[in-house]
Amino acid sequence: MTDSKDRLLPEKELEFIKRIHGVLIDYLDQKENSLVNPSMAHDNPKSGVNFSLDEPNDHDSIESLIDQYLGSAIDTSSPHFYNQLFSGFSTMGYLGEIIASITNSSMYTFEMSPMATLIEVELIKKMTTIVGYENGFGTFVTGGSNANLVAMLAARDRIYPKSKKEGLYNEKILCAFVSEESHYSYIKAGYQLGIGIDQIIRVSCDQTGHMDTDALSLEIKNAIHAGRIPFFVGATAGTTIRGAFDPIKKINEICKNNHLWFHIDGSWGGSVLLSKQHSELLDGSEESDSFAWCAHKMMGVPLMCTVILMKDKDVLRNINNVPSTDYLFHGEKMDLGLHSLQCGRRTDSIKLWLTWKYYGDIGFEKRIDRLFDLAKYAESKVRSSKLFKMVSPCESLNVCFQIQPKELNQSEWSTFTKNVRNRLVEEGEIMVNYANIGDISCIRLIIVNFNLRRHHLDTFFEGIETVSKETLRDLFN
Ligand SMILES: Cc1ncc(COP(=O)(O)O)c(C=O)c1O
Repeated sequence: MTDSKDRLLPEKELEFIKRIHGVLIDYLDQKENSLVNPSMAHDNPKSGVNFSLDEPNDHDSIESLIDQYLGSAIDTSSPHFYNQLFSGFSTMGYLGEIIASITNSSMYTFEMSPMATLIEVELIKKMTTIVGYENGFGTFVTGGSNANLVAMLAARDRIYPKSKKEGLYNEKILCAFVSEESHYSYIKAGYQLGIGIDQIIRVSCDQTGHMDTDALSLEIKNAIHAGRIPFFVGATAGTTIRGAFDPIKKINEICKNNHLWFHIDGSWGGSVLLSKQHSELLDGSEESDSFAWCAHKMMGVPLMCTVILMKDKDVLRNINNVPSTDYLFHGEKMDLGLHSLQCGRRTDSIKLWLTWKYYGDIGFEKRIDRLFDLAKYAESKVRSSKLFKMVSPCESLNVCFQIQPKELNQSEWSTFTKNVRNRLVEEGEIMVNYANIGDISCIRLIIVNFNLRRHHLDTFFEGIETVSKETLRDLFN
């Protein structure tokens, strides 16, 4: 059937791919010594890159563009990258990404992706069981934001089943409840689902960032009194800024008493279920109706890799069942596209499956336990310092602290903290973010890189202390 003319790739292309693989291997090999933010070392990261798309380019110029890209990319694999809720390099994840791209399949039908379908089903079974659903189901989605959207859609479908066909026009106003420290994706979901941003009620939190359940009960009561229809509560397991875990059991009780959909956004913290030592943070998760879980965060798999899990195995099928799909779905029960908002969908499951196969449950557990130990270590460094002050206790992997030099007034600490952070990041060796808690700005140090060790944290604290002193000196000179 195939002769030499039918080769997938001309010899020249194959040679080029091999050459670039070499470049990628060299890149991985040299990462250890590179800056987290290499573009900070150059005069202008944009200089010399030709971004325009008019002319074709040969292999040599493509190679130099790839070099330029790699040379300026933030090194998120570095243990000195603390900026977001992900960090690190995953060998199995990387290989899974290449396999997904080389096979370029799509998850809609079993026919298109037989092995990836079985892999995804196995992962969903494993993850729903870990959450505590006996007969649940789920699907991979494009990220935590999308998982929260799908959960809210399922809840809307349950309370107003007719809305799928008729929309919300003849219905009373719905309202949902999330904490004031929950992720902004809930607000977007309210907009996207026609519920309205104003109907996403942001319940106040206690001093340490957990949803205040008395306030939740009161908000529900007030909403009913005002003629609105409460339908959804979104708890957060691992808030974006403080890493706080909302009180799952209490919230569940309120949901059950009021017949509300109970969703847990475990995008960040869901992975603690893999640790016997820390899973108690999510005690009661089995009582929820849905659960968002990002493997690209605490499980160290490359972005994006998220599941939305449902306690009721039929929900996803129901909300995604629409007409005019028979060109694609021909009656095969294992067609996962029937359960998904997306039509074409990447085989994100492969990278998680390979990683899980490699580490086993025990490998994830050890790594996550180590991260918790390191976060405690970082917290102890802050607590023993005269310059730094925790602004909230470290409950999981977020260490939030402020820089409080005694030479400055309290009112100046927030600005000073942001200035130090910006200066530190400009130096290019460390990348950490700042965030606001109430009206206080703080450093939000995220401990999530599986390669992180105590000595990296020592370097981090030495670095930030040095930059704090320099910034202070400049202020008074
Ligand atoms: C608690 C929480 N939920 C949802 C999200 C959104 O996740 P994604 O970036 O995968 O859409 C985030 C992102 O940081 C988050 O912290």
